Amino acid sequence: MLNFDFYNRTRLVFGRGVQAQVGEGIAPFAKKVMLHYGGGSIVRSGLYDQVARSLSDAGIDWVELGGVEPNPRLSLVREGVGICRREGVELILAVGGGSVIDSAKAIAIGVYYDGDVWDFYGTGKPVEKALPVATVLTIPAAGSEASVGSVITNHETCQKMACNSLEIRPVVSFVNPELFATLPKNQIANGVSDMMSHIFERYFTNTTHTDLTDALCEATLRTIMKNGPIVYETPSDYDAWCQVGFGGTVAHNDLLGMGRAQDWGCHDMEHELSAIYDVAHGAGLAVLTPAWMTYVHKHNPGMFVQFAVNVMGVTGDFRDSEALILEGIDRLRRFYRRLGLPQTLKELGIDRTQFDLMAKKATGEAYGGEHGVGGLKKLMWQDVLAIYELAA
Ligand code: NZQ
Ligand code: ZN
Repeated sequence: MLNFDFYNRTRLVFGRGVQAQVGEGIAPFAKKVMLHYGGGSIVRSGLYDQVARSLSDAGIDWVELGGVEPNPRLSLVREGVGICRREGVELILAVGGGSVIDSAKAIAIGVYYDGDVWDFYGTGKPVEKALPVATVLTIPAAGSEASVGSVITNHETCQKMACNSLEIRPVVSFVNPELFATLPKNQIANGVSDMMSHIFERYFTNTTHTDLTDALCEATLRTIMKNGPIVYETPSDYDAWCQVGFGGTVAHNDLLGMGRAQDWGCHDMEHELSAIYDVAHGAGLAVLTPAWMTYVHKHNPGMFVQFAVNVMGVTGDFRDSEALILEGIDRLRRFYRRLGLPQTLKELGIDRTQFDLMAKKATGEAYGGEHGVGGLKKLMWQDVLAIYELAA
């Protein structure tokens, strides 16, 4: 096990009706906020009015900026920075999913920075100061409600890049699983796929003596895989949503990755798909993950046998580890299929024309310095190209 330093400041307020506590929860941080949201689902569900009432009751003044799109855009972030500066905003309240929260985090960084906020994305440039961010989560998926990450798309350069900093971890997040009942089926499936991937990226490691986090990862995966299909079939099932919702936060609040080297190869490969083709992140991951597993499993077969047995429930001849591993990967494919997720890049409308470019962008080769992606097995651009081919 490796040394680690775990600090998670996010207060998590979870359960029925918690959006009524928003005003009171953010009052210690701000008297004026920016209410940031997406394309209108919060207006249609009545959540907008509930949040507005809670802010008014707590004596909190607000300006608002809606219109965040999935794969949130840098252009709207820049607009938000201007509004916050002009209006003297002290906190950004994101009401929505990962896209809204990530956009809020980017604005929070930009407010205190003289240059362009894009300077922080994909560069590792440290964030010195950011406005506090609070969230009301409407889709369990990205884990951004308690994560240090923000992922933004720059349409001018066709890049989707991340910025990670403790400064943008939300100060408080309100998670009411009742709000997930209005999600369309494809978004439910995308969310389940994304949260599972956040665990895979931490679970598949060459670090040894990681019994506790192995077991936490496996239990969280089993919980999501048990309850994900239930909410997919019955989106009104509150109890199952509680398990999926909490699972999504735990998957990406960093606890599961402590003391172990992490991978993140599938995320880096997927961000290239979203940047060029604007596909949903979770759908892209469902296609790439089994292909990645097929490509890398020989590098650490023990890890993949453990996954097949402890997560996918495979039993059989333990002398034939390859068969166990391939059955585990196949069961994962079948699980995604059950949720109506795509199996191939073709189903996502992606042909081979950009494979080379995407592989070179993901690994840094396109920018003149190939750093590769992934941890369990370091993937250079030809490896990424081979994985895109396997997923084609
Ligand atoms: O915009 P509205 O109208 O609100 O509709 C949204 C959107 O169209 C809709 N939706 C959300 N809650 C709903 C609802 N519809 C009905 N009822 C509800 N309760 O769902 C659509 C998708 O929303 P989005 O926020 O894009 O989904 P998600 O949470 O999956 O976020 C995806 C983004 O998060 C990034 C991804 O790359 C992607 O851009 N990620 C962020 C991470 C982080 N910050 O830590 C980590 C992840 O790996 C991920 O990369
Ligand atoms: Zn993700």
